[in-house]
Amino acid sequence: MANIEEQKRQYEYIDKCKEIIAKKKQDNGGHYTCAVVTFGCQMNARDSEKLEGILKEVGYEVIEDEKSADFVIYNTCTVRDNANQKVYGHLGILKARKNKNKNLQIALCGCMMQEPSVIEIIKTKYRFVNLVFGTHNIYKFAELLYRMLTSDSQIIDIWEDTDQIVEDLPVERKYSFKSGINIMFGCNNFCSYCIVPYVRGRERSREPKEIIREIENLVADGVVEVMLLGQNVNSYGKNLDNPMTFAQLLREIEKIEGLKRIRFMTSHPKDLSDELIDVMAHSNKICKQMHLPLQSGSDRILQDMNRHYTKEKYLSIVDKLRAAVPDIAITTDIIVGFPGETVDDVNETIDVIKKVGYDNAFTFIYSKRTGTPAAAREDQLDEAFVKEQFARVLETVSTEAAKRNGMYVGRTMEVLVEETNEHDKDYVTGRLSNNSMVHFKGDSSLIGSLVNVKLTESKGFYYYGEMI
Ligand code: 5AD
Ligand code: SF4
Repeated sequence: MANIEEQKRQYEYIDKCKEIIAKKKQDNGGHYTCAVVTFGCQMNARDSEKLEGILKEVGYEVIEDEKSADFVIYNTCTVRDNANQKVYGHLGILKARKNKNKNLQIALCGCMMQEPSVIEIIKTKYRFVNLVFGTHNIYKFAELLYRMLTSDSQIIDIWEDTDQIVEDLPVERKYSFKSGINIMFGCNNFCSYCIVPYVRGRERSREPKEIIREIENLVADGVVEVMLLGQNVNSYGKNLDNPMTFAQLLREIEKIEGLKRIRFMTSHPKDLSDELIDVMAHSNKICKQMHLPLQSGSDRILQDMNRHYTKEKYLSIVDKLRAAVPDIAITTDIIVGFPGETVDDVNETIDVIKKVGYDNAFTFIYSKRTGTPAAAREDQLDEAFVKEQFARVLETVSTEAAKRNGMYVGRTMEVLVEETNEHDKDYVTGRLSNNSMVHFKGDSSLIGSLVNVKLTESKGFYYYGEMI
């Protein structure tokens, strides 16, 4: 349930922060700046927009360049170990800056902060960080900010979980015409390699009426495309007081006047229903794009990963999608190097890549995440072997994606215009329903509109075209 009391409290803290920031601005020659640096997925990007909304509301000038900001926030990711290493690298640089400028303020938040071992390291090695909070209390950011602004000691506030969903706090959108929308938080799947369920907590769906209201408000504010966000959108609504399916939610969102495009991610193959495929097939607004993480094509590894589907089941979903939604682009995530994986297992993954013909596949080397079941296994693989297998998979992914490059040259397709071209201001850039990029002659007045473009030339991952 949305918590109105909590929302009110946060607005009170916003007012209190406003007074403090106004004073700091005066002392600082009229400027007081803040930069939010985002690591990781689209969920984090959306969380950062929420942080920025509050920062702007209380009076900070939100800037891109962290090097000149008076306050720097790192919104962290921990899905693979290299994400953690990146944050420590950045903190090393910040330490040198803080030694020169004691007024610099630093906050850390996001998934990595939900790991107790990380907090221990921050408490000992990174005492100069002012504020640390996690994923569950991000809705209390105004209050946490107030505590930071009124204290000289390091503030660490991490919760193990929450059942709260707080609606209607300020949000600063990165794009005027498109926006991410959280439809659910957390994950209950416990794939055996994945740390997300431990750092993002249990699955909680937002009430459909809150989602619809948020989208209606966004549309009134110029948004024409939404990306519905959740770790596993296909299980949306199961835990609501009045349960509803993701497909039913999509039907409701489709009815919103003025909204032109609907995208969503991420889908879990185990929960992808025929009802969803049917809704996609009959929709005018749902984009022809499906991100469907495979992880592995080997039944044995899929079982060890706790994924709850087989290679055959996965391929049958793809067949159904392709039959029902012509021109659909399918993308995926793949992990190479899961404990115990053999050359034969990787061959199975390669077989699926070839059979599906992905438009793009994000391929990751398995990263051991402490606390997950896979991390406790003794059959962790040799690095050199994994690198070899990774190269084989990557090669197949590139070959298959290249086959799909340029397949729509000659066709006229709808493009949503997103921006003027960075390199040539006589051109604009937009996206097809399947998310491919298209450049064509046009001006900024087209931004946010859907236009028909004849695709004349392919440049690998993008097209050139002519508006008609
Ligand atoms: N190691 C490597 N990749 C991982 N992912 C999740 N956990 C791990 C891990 N421990 C990948 C999965 C997921 C994507 C977001 O990150 O492929 O779909
Ligand atoms: Fe991680 Fe699996 Fe949940 Fe995705 S579905 S966030 S891979 S546990």
